[in-house]
Order: sequence, then structure tokens, then C-alpha cells
Amino acid sequence: MTTGAVVVAAGSGSRLGADRPKAFVQLAGVTLLEHAVARLRDGGVRAIVAVVPDALVGQTQALLGDAAQVVAGGAERQDSVAAGLAALPADVDVVLVHDAARCLAPAALVARVASAVTADSPAVVPGLPVVDTVKEVDASGLVVGTVDRAPLRRVQTPQGFERALLERAHAAAGDSAATDDAALVERLGVRVRLVEGDPLALKVTTAEDLALAEWLLTRLSP
Ligand code: C5P
Repeated sequence: MTTGAVVVAAGSGSRLGADRPKAFVQLAGVTLLEHAVARLRDGGVRAIVAVVPDALVGQTQALLGDAAQVVAGGAERQDSVAAGLAALPADVDVVLVHDAARCLAPAALVARVASAVTADSPAVVPGLPVVDTVKEVDASGLVVGTVDRAPLRRVQTPQGFERALLERAHAAAGDSAATDDAALVERLGVRVRLVEGDPLALKVTTAEDLALAEWLLTRLSP
């Protein structure tokens, strides 16, 4: 089987408050997108499509060189994933979908997700237990109830899929949005397997997340 990856990096990332799209913000002198692509390659993935804002396609291709093919994204994350999927080489039959914002997701996590798909699961997500107590609240801020956290998981990327299944899930989704790709597969009635996630796969969303990622990176360096 041949594994490929779609790295979505076409969001504006306005919550980060940077002067450029989030994936192009630098961490230790390297863009989040380059960090993400490097770790996918370390995890054994060779066919990588990076999906970026239309205006940045040319300069991103120059930045990434042979490490990834660069295409333009769409208005929503789902549109960007679909654009990346369409650009993957024909021989790719297992696809990892990854957020560039999870730029430190380690090679071991990439390999764990990919090998679970290759072994026996058509759809795989990495996830971590919920450690906080979870409350449901109403619009006025009053607590409605306490949710049992034991069966809950915080799901990350890369998420892995048999390519044909993911293509079918995206085609069936149409305009109805989902916050991750696994949700589209679940709608088809296909069971999604959860494998252990990694705290390093945190999603950089705010300036505080960026500072935390920078600190983690210095701790990881030899
Ligand atoms: O905005 P959020 O952090 O949830 O986005 C998750 C990932 O999806 C980011 O890496 C972002 O660049 C990407 N994205 C995209 N196209 C969009 C919106 C988000 O590629 N239209």
C-alpha cells in the first residue's frame, strides 16, 4: 500500500493575531507548515500535498521544493481537504489528513496512524483522554449537567483513511460541514478506530499555543 498525506494550511488563523496565515508563522525560524511536512516525511510519508491560500501557492512551492506538491485551498477546511485529495498521485491508497497547525505531531504518531490503516482499519483517529470535568451549560451560563468524561477523547490529526472511503465520504458530505474528516466517514456508517494520540500534536490556535510549541521544541532539541 502507498501512503500519502494532505496537509491543510489554507486557513487564516485569525485567533493567532499574526500578520500572515497561521501556517506561515514561524517557530524557531521555520514555518508551521514546514515543521508539519518534515515530521510527515520522518514518519515515512513521501507523497505529500500541501493546501494553502491561493495567493501563496507559488511561494510555498518554492519554499517546500520536492518535499510536497502545493495546491490552492477553499473557503472551508473541508474544501481544502477535498482539493488536496484530488491532487494526490493515483497510486496513493492510504491518506493521512493533517492540520499544519499541529506542526509538532511527531513521526511516531504519523507512523502509528498509518500502520493502523494499513493493518485493518479503514478509518483511524488519534485521541487523548479528557482530564477536566466536563459540564453542559445553557445560553445563560447555568450548568445543565455533568458529562461522563470516561468515554470521551480529544481527537487530533493526522487522521488516516483508505483513500476510496475518504473520497466517498467527501462526495457524500456536499455542503454539510464537519469539523474533522472522521465525522464524514462516521456519517457513512463506517466505524472509526481510535489510537493513542500525542500531547505534541497540540493545535496551535492562540499566541499562547505558539509560545508553548516554541518551548516544547527547545525541549525536544538535542
Ligand atoms: O482554523 P483551524 O485551526 O480549525 O484550522 C485547522 C486547519 O485547517 C489549519 O491547519 C488550517 O490552515 C486549515 N484550513 C484550511 N482551509 C480552510 C480553513 C482551515 O486549510 N479554509
